[in-house]
Amino acid sequence: METSEARQRIEELRAVLNENSRRYYVDNAPTMSDQEFDTLMHELEALEAQFPEFYSPDSPTQRVGSDLESPVGRNAEPGTGVEFVKRAHRYPMLSLGNTYSIAEVEEFAARADKLLEGGFTYCCELKFDGTAICLTYTDGVLTRALTRGDGLQGDDVTENARRISNIPVRLHGDYPAEFEIRGEVLMPFASFEALNREREDEGESPFANPRNAASGSLKLGDPSEVARRGLWCTLYHIPAQSVPFETHDEALTKAASWGLPVSDARRLCRNISEIRAFIDHWDTARRDLPFATDGIVIKINELQAQRTLGYTAKSPRWAVAYKFKAEQACTKLLSIDYQVGRTGAVTPVANLEPVQLGGTVVKRATLVNQDQIEALDIRVGDSVYVEKGGEIIPKITGVNLSLRPAGSVVPAFPAVCPDCGTPLLRQEGEAKWFCPNQDGCPMQIKGRILHFIGRKAMNVLAGEASVEQFYNAGLVRTPADLYDINKYQLMSLEGWQDRSAQRFLDSLAVSVDVPFERVLFALGIRFVGETTARDLARHFGDIDSLAAASVEDLLEVAEVGDVIARSVYDYMHNPAHQEEITRLKAKGLRFSGAGAAESLSDSLAGKTVVVSGNFSVSRDAIKELIVSHGGKCSSSVSGSTSFLLAGTKPGPEKLRKCQQLGIPVRSEEEFRRMLPEDAGSAVEPDQLTLF
Ligand code: IVH
Repeated sequence: METSEARQRIEELRAVLNENSRRYYVDNAPTMSDQEFDTLMHELEALEAQFPEFYSPDSPTQRVGSDLESPVGRNAEPGTGVEFVKRAHRYPMLSLGNTYSIAEVEEFAARADKLLEGGFTYCCELKFDGTAICLTYTDGVLTRALTRGDGLQGDDVTENARRISNIPVRLHGDYPAEFEIRGEVLMPFASFEALNREREDEGESPFANPRNAASGSLKLGDPSEVARRGLWCTLYHIPAQSVPFETHDEALTKAASWGLPVSDARRLCRNISEIRAFIDHWDTARRDLPFATDGIVIKINELQAQRTLGYTAKSPRWAVAYKFKAEQACTKLLSIDYQVGRTGAVTPVANLEPVQLGGTVVKRATLVNQDQIEALDIRVGDSVYVEKGGEIIPKITGVNLSLRPAGSVVPAFPAVCPDCGTPLLRQEGEAKWFCPNQDGCPMQIKGRILHFIGRKAMNVLAGEASVEQFYNAGLVRTPADLYDINKYQLMSLEGWQDRSAQRFLDSLAVSVDVPFERVLFALGIRFVGETTARDLARHFGDIDSLAAASVEDLLEVAEVGDVIARSVYDYMHNPAHQEEITRLKAKGLRFSGAGAAESLSDSLAGKTVVVSGNFSVSRDAIKELIVSHGGKCSSSVSGSTSFLLAGTKPGPEKLRKCQQLGIPVRSEEEFRRMLPEDAGSAVEPDQLTLF
């Protein structure tokens, strides 16, 4: 692969992985299966190893996914607008290296053999699919429970952990005076099904899987609701530094004797064939467990050997996770629906004979696009294989042709939009058919409004049914129309009363204070998810600078590649969108402000800074520092640039332009000296890489 091609792919992979990581850890609503995520992560690791010049401490390969950052309104649940106190972990809470291949488990064993020169055993355990927790017991009493957070600090969820039925608040026996123990909080399938039924009844979106439900529930603001959710805990790791035992297995046996929930499903193995037997057994037997597991963890059992092997920046060298391939079920395809999304993309969705899969009942599955239907040669009446990914809707992955009924016909993909009748288009290079009637297709219009009012966007209190009513009554065609609706109009709609109308209008009024980055996300620009919206908002600071940006300027934003840059550029140059933004501005919505950056001083007030090269921290952190000291960032050097902040390897073009225009160039050290004392060190180099 050429260097430029590698750079672009690395960028793309980092953007996709970062976005999904946020959806997984922060929103508890992933849109990618674990296997897809792991495959992309492995591709990124391989590319970074091959092209070390693109190393970045910010790459998802170097960081533990973070469950922090769930400020008010971000989380997928009511009652979760809770900010937990963040506390540092005594020992960093890392992740595990993983693989889907037995050959790589063999490599892990061979490496350990070579480094340790024999004399050790393996402890094999289930890999529980929940959310990690770290408990501290002091004098036998549960004193602290932290989530993993970013690995260095986690959310303090002690009150909630106390309400999980099998976490003891007091131990018995010969426990150490103080120790930490780590494990997983899980939601058993039965509790998960009940919770989702309840949520659907109340018009709430259901959780994608038990893991997301567990993690969302652990972060609820109301401990009594946590108690009601039927969570469950299993513990599997005592940091070797905190206890005097010889082996991991001994530590777990002791922990169980103090009353802690430790799984019996573990086994000491002496060699790879015993490990393989353990894997084979649980690959099938796990289907009978009442909770989700997604693999096997193989750990070196002797704690001294663990210390010898140590850690990488992200995971221990003394353990590896072998992950099971996604579970499959076979069922009948009853019919196909074609759904139009807010971008006009048409997605075929299969209606299935209900079937049990991974502990839940599946009735619908995505068929992705026409190519997929053709590639799999799927027909109504077929017996199809279904697999669960990260989404709520599972995927169809194959057909059992031997069971195909006689006379079945190839499904015809609709030629016109199933909603508005406009002929569908498929652009070159696109896998999906689109309805081009952006401004007139009811599904697209309603989809855009729904996206705009969503929790992670403007957080307006209305759902699909209300949007349908507004649309049918001719009240809304674009998001700005929402702000023109009055109480009289609302009360003339079926089912609306004074209170509900007022509630809706109040939430609209509050929405004008939603930060710029979320407004940008709410606009629904193609390919601009929450993370990209935040990056763009921080980089450009306001909508006018963003609208004035060229494609090249947009490419300056970390993690923005050609596709996103082009999409943002096109959006901003569409007169209808410009008019919509003007209307929304007039309603008072926020179209400026970097959002999260805290104001630390005004020592850079009035200064426009161009940042180029590599620094002791990420470029984004440097930009945040500039904004938080009152400065503005710009992507290209011009007459209005105050100075170029140059790290190592700054862009030669930028340096040349500075020389030409007589613009000063400052080093990172000089820059930090421009900030008030201590403030320059507010952003420290990424500490995780030091471990
Ligand atoms: S040991 C230093 N054991 O899987 C690493 N982790 O994907 C200690 N997990 O972060 C972790 N079951 O949240 C360990 N039996 C098990 C596990 C397990 C599930 C989770 C854990 C970890 C993640 C990595």
